[in-house]
Amino acid sequence: MNKDIMTKAVRLGEYSPKSISTPKTVPIYMSSSYAFETVDDLEDVYSGKEEGYVYSRVGNPGQDTLKAVMAGIEDGEDVEVYSSGMAAIAMSIMANVSAGDHIVASNVLYGGSYSLLKEELKRFDVEVSFIDIENDDIAASIKDNTKILYMETISNPLMEVVDIREICNMCHEKGVKVIIDNTFATPSICQPLKHGADIVVYSATKYLCGHSDVMAGIVIGDKETVAKIRYTGSLLGPTMSPFDSWVLTRSLRTLDLRVKKHSENALELAKYFENHEKVEKVYYPGLESSKYHELSKELFNTDHFGGMLSVDLVGGEQAVCDIIEHLESIKFVPSLAGVATSVSFPVRTSHRALTDEELKESNISKGLLRISTGLENISDIIGEFDRALAKL
Ligand SMILES: Cc1ncc(COP(=O)(O)O)c(C=O)c1O
Repeated sequence: MNKDIMTKAVRLGEYSPKSISTPKTVPIYMSSSYAFETVDDLEDVYSGKEEGYVYSRVGNPGQDTLKAVMAGIEDGEDVEVYSSGMAAIAMSIMANVSAGDHIVASNVLYGGSYSLLKEELKRFDVEVSFIDIENDDIAASIKDNTKILYMETISNPLMEVVDIREICNMCHEKGVKVIIDNTFATPSICQPLKHGADIVVYSATKYLCGHSDVMAGIVIGDKETVAKIRYTGSLLGPTMSPFDSWVLTRSLRTLDLRVKKHSENALELAKYFENHEKVEKVYYPGLESSKYHELSKELFNTDHFGGMLSVDLVGGEQAVCDIIEHLESIKFVPSLAGVATSVSFPVRTSHRALTDEELKESNISKGLLRISTGLENISDIIGEFDRALAKL
């Protein structure tokens, strides 16, 4: 070995420490690429004869650990992970459509998904029909060239729940794949694959990560479907970093515990809002008064209904602006699902791209406050809303 400092600095250091013991947690493999002894070894990995990693855009040990945990808790055949929820959604859609195809989508969706479907796909000559998935005749909106139906299990921001079993059956009869964004529900509450969905997508930035510190996306489906999405993703390139896959794996260990507590708090908060004179309407499927309550109980695999709820304030848009200022420690955050309770203002954040007409069609009012219920003591959460509402 050359004694030059530079040469030693870049070449020394063993990949694998010699040790009879193994690390208790999976290490972070912060390596963009992998080295091979021979060209034949590389060929064997490419051909699938040997297991191994080549380049982190197409695979990394940390991602594989995360995929194994996620496949288990979702009960899905195969999983792919991405650098954001939008990447997971875009890859799932783009892998399944070509120019000239048609998509049917719910008109109540996360605003980014809505804009992707409405604006971006148009540039690639993919037509999208937005429908009221609860009341419209879905079958009538499906055409010969329809390839995908896209919806959310619990819709953002109105917490609507529709019968995904019926929708999936009908779509499958017509050869249409169903992609369901299960971000608000998480696998702790609902597993859409069991109800017939072909692809489940997540903004893992939200509950799956749960601590407001990582951007991530996940796709789950059968082997063939995920292989197709994986190929598209490997070329478009929204890879999840080794560090983020490590953090996300760690977060999944406590997902179920967190979601239960988020849900218990959300139910108590929803009941409190239901009886408040300054609240016009509460959107939460866990309330017995919700029109989605009975169906949710059938579709959900627990008696929990998630941590997200929305309310229409009596004072409309101005009341939302005011309550955001009156809240003491509950922050106004254009995201959700962290450990601390936060609020959002859909028409100014996630759904700001929708026109007044589109908001009306989607029944999203300007006085809608969306609440992501955290893990705090519930009396502290209610106390803070109580003081803020009293000032309106
Ligand atoms: C339901 C839902 N799906 C997808 C997304 C997009 O995910 P990301 O922000 O991780 O790209 C969001 C973001 O808020 C969301 O709320």
